[in-house]
Amino acid sequence: MGYARSRSAVAPLRRGLAAAGPRPAGPRPSVLQATALHRPEEPMLCVRPGVLAETARSFVAAFGAAVGGDVLYAVKCNPDTTVLRALWAGGVRHFDVASPGEIRLIRQMFPDAVLHYMHPVKGRQAIRAAYEQYGVRDFVLDSMEELEKIRQETGDAADLGLVVRLALPKGNAVYDLSGKFGAPAAEAVALLRAARAVAPKLGVSFHVGSQMLDPAAYERAIALAGAVIAEAGVAIDVLDVGGGFPVSYPGVTPPPLGDFMAAIARGIATLDLPAHCRIWCEPGRALVAPGVSLVVRITKRRGDELYITDGVYGSLSDAGVPGFRFPARLLRPFEPMSEAPVAAFAFYGPTCDSADRMNGPFLLPSDAREGDWIELGQLGAYGSCLRTAFNGFEQARVVEVADPPLLETPGYDLAASAA
Ligand SMILES: Cc1ncc(COP(=O)(O)O)c(C=O)c1O
Repeated sequence: MGYARSRSAVAPLRRGLAAAGPRPAGPRPSVLQATALHRPEEPMLCVRPGVLAETARSFVAAFGAAVGGDVLYAVKCNPDTTVLRALWAGGVRHFDVASPGEIRLIRQMFPDAVLHYMHPVKGRQAIRAAYEQYGVRDFVLDSMEELEKIRQETGDAADLGLVVRLALPKGNAVYDLSGKFGAPAAEAVALLRAARAVAPKLGVSFHVGSQMLDPAAYERAIALAGAVIAEAGVAIDVLDVGGGFPVSYPGVTPPPLGDFMAAIARGIATLDLPAHCRIWCEPGRALVAPGVSLVVRITKRRGDELYITDGVYGSLSDAGVPGFRFPARLLRPFEPMSEAPVAAFAFYGPTCDSADRMNGPFLLPSDAREGDWIELGQLGAYGSCLRTAFNGFEQARVVEVADPPLLETPGYDLAASAA
């Protein structure tokens, strides 16, 4: 998720991204056709609106069938406007926003969207603007100080939804999120009582960590939330089971989506929640990862290392220190496809920093050479939103394509997605 990147400021939204402009009429091209057309020398992000909409549809339907709940898309994961429009087309109406920029963007694009401010530590001005200008009513918090701040900046508003974020013990998610936010159980009990006294809508939330491969983690977290709610002796109106839902990467196939939904439904069935209590979730990665790939060009080959036109300061932050592997395919739009056996490669990105290295291994035909293009899949989540301008490599082209994802994640019905 780029959290491991030690230096370089994260770029403002869409900085350096050259959108393709209004899409020409007619069917979207394939990635291979778009590569032949543009011969991209800079990274080319290939957005699959059909895949994004179908993924959202599948997820919203599965969560609805399991617990009748609301799906809040975590905007931080990918705020690209084409991506957001596709999710809206797929039925997403609620958004987990965590900054003034995200709030403005979603409110501008979708005046009817429901916004939930899910950052537990907010600036005072951001709270005030969210409430007064953008109609935000739901705010997450994990401390008494934040509760006071929200009360003061909204003028003790009588229509708040306050959601207490619970700390979870460090779990086994690929991306642990237990360190920074969340009230320990005893504090959460006190916070729930204090928030109940001032808010007509009260909730509990948690995050099991990103790319969580174990459905039982949700059941355990729900049980902990249940214990805290019981100890507080309050009735709640919302239980938010967070994000963390996984996708496939090379060598990693998560349990089907249905297993996660079943675990959440089982966990909730054990709690004594009021009948009106809404269940929310905040997926990011699961909704958008399969919907965007990246085309890069090979600028040099040195043994089994390929120098390519994007790297850890661009869309491939997670391929650096976090060590994510992405599905790869070689593109030779003007020649027959290589039939060479597959070999393992590491990548170097375009900047002069030695840390701009991606160990992979990335599997490609063994005759990959300078001038070839490579498509890397599953990059819709925490990819382009983390691009920086470091070393002058901020430019990237954005195109819409019709291809299916490079890797399937079990449990999603993407049959109707090519468009
Ligand atoms: C509060 C919150 N909700 C949801 C998400 C989305 O998580 P994921 O992409 O793992 O689904 C994040 C990710 O950092 C988060 O911080």
